Amino acid sequence: MIRVRNPGRLNVGILASGRGSNFEAIADAIERGDLNAEIKLIISDKEDALVLKKGAKRKIPVLCVKPGDFSDAAVYERALIAAFRSAEAELVALAGYMRLIGDEFINAFPYCIVNIHPALLPSFRGLNAQRQALEAGVRFSGCTVHIVDRGMDTGPIILQAAVPVCGDDDEESLSNRILEEEHKIYWRALRLYCEGRLYVEEKKVLISEEKDRRK
Ligand code: GRF
Repeated sequence: MIRVRNPGRLNVGILASGRGSNFEAIADAIERGDLNAEIKLIISDKEDALVLKKGAKRKIPVLCVKPGDFSDAAVYERALIAAFRSAEAELVALAGYMRLIGDEFINAFPYCIVNIHPALLPSFRGLNAQRQALEAGVRFSGCTVHIVDRGMDTGPIILQAAVPVCGDDDEESLSNRILEEEHKIYWRALRLYCEGRLYVEEKKVLISEEKDRRK
């Protein structure tokens, strides 16, 4: 069993491709004092990603690193690793990042790359998870924060939240209901890193008891 990290303030890097609402929820938790962390750098692979504007507005360093500017994926990811390292990020939170992560990147931040996925994993991995849930006719879906491994949405699960699927749901209404929960659990998963409460045993994340009860 491996303890992932000792307690203390967490330096976070964000890697995102789009709108950035999960980034904002994490940044809000830090501002409220619910999460003892600092967002050191936001990187997007898309020049026009809203997350870059949102980050800059909060005076967080932002960077666009485009895969097309590099000879291959490994070289591109080396640039990401270098940027996060020089910003002193110790954990990378994927927040709507639409690419798989390669070995070198995973090894550069052992157990410290996390992702949020809009389904109750291991169901409905990959793209359009909310549509997959609707098509399968499940009564509940939700979201999952997990440690990133080589697979697509296959890594050890840290936290999950469930929501009901209603008879009249479409992709948008279900996505919105799930997104509300995403915004509640992502920063809480990061807080477990800050508190040094995460252990990994093979494919499972164990969470040690909290010392004092809180929300
Ligand atoms: C979220 O639904 C998240 O679960 C998925 O991508 C979406 C990102 O949304 N991985 P946002 O950019 O954080 O608003």
